[in-house]
Amino acid sequence: MFSHLKWANYLRYWDGPEQGERPAAYIIMLTPMATTRFHHIDTGIAAQTILLGATEKGMGGCMIASADKAAISKLLHLPEAMEINLVIALGYPAEKVVIDEIDDPDDVEYWRDDDGIHHVPKRRLQELILN
Ligand SMILES: Cc1cc2nc3c(=O)[nH]c(=O)nc-3n(C[C@H](O)[C@H](O)[C@H](O)COP(=O)(O)O)c2cc1C
Repeated sequence: MFSHLKWANYLRYWDGPEQGERPAAYIIMLTPMATTRFHHIDTGIAAQTILLGATEKGMGGCMIASADKAAISKLLHLPEAMEINLVIALGYPAEKVVIDEIDDPDDVEYWRDDDGIHHVPKRRLQELILN
C-alpha cells in the first residue's frame, strides 16, 4: 500500500516516512460509482470523525488523496463499481506537530524546522468567518 501513496507534497526534499515510521494501518474509503452528489461531503465527515477518534486514542493519521487508485483497487481486489475517495493512514505519531497561525492567508505550506518539528500553518479564525 505504501508505494501507492504520495506523501507531503510541500516537503520536496522528503520521500515520506522511513521504514519503522510508516503507517500501521490504512482505511480505504469507498463509495459506489453510481452515487449521490453528496458522496464527497459524506466521505469528509467520516474521515474527520475517524481521525478525531484515532487522535483521542493516542494515534495519528493522515488523509491521503494522492493515491494510485487503480493500483490499490487491483491490490485489494476491490469491486469495479466502487470508487476510492480517500485513503486514511493510521499509526502512532513519531513526530511533534505544532500549529502556526499565519498572517499571509496564502502561506499555507507546512514545513519542518531544524529540530524536526513539523509546522502546520493555519489561517486565523477571523479570516474564515465572513461578516
Ligand atoms: C482531502 C485531503 C487530501 C489530502 N491528501 C494528501 C496526500 O495525498 N498526501 C499527503 O501527504 N497529505 C495529504 N493531505 C494533507 C494531510 O492529510 C493533512 O491534512 C496535513 O498534513 C495537515 O495536517 P492537519 O490536517 O492535521 O492539520 C490531504 C488533506 C486533505 C484534507
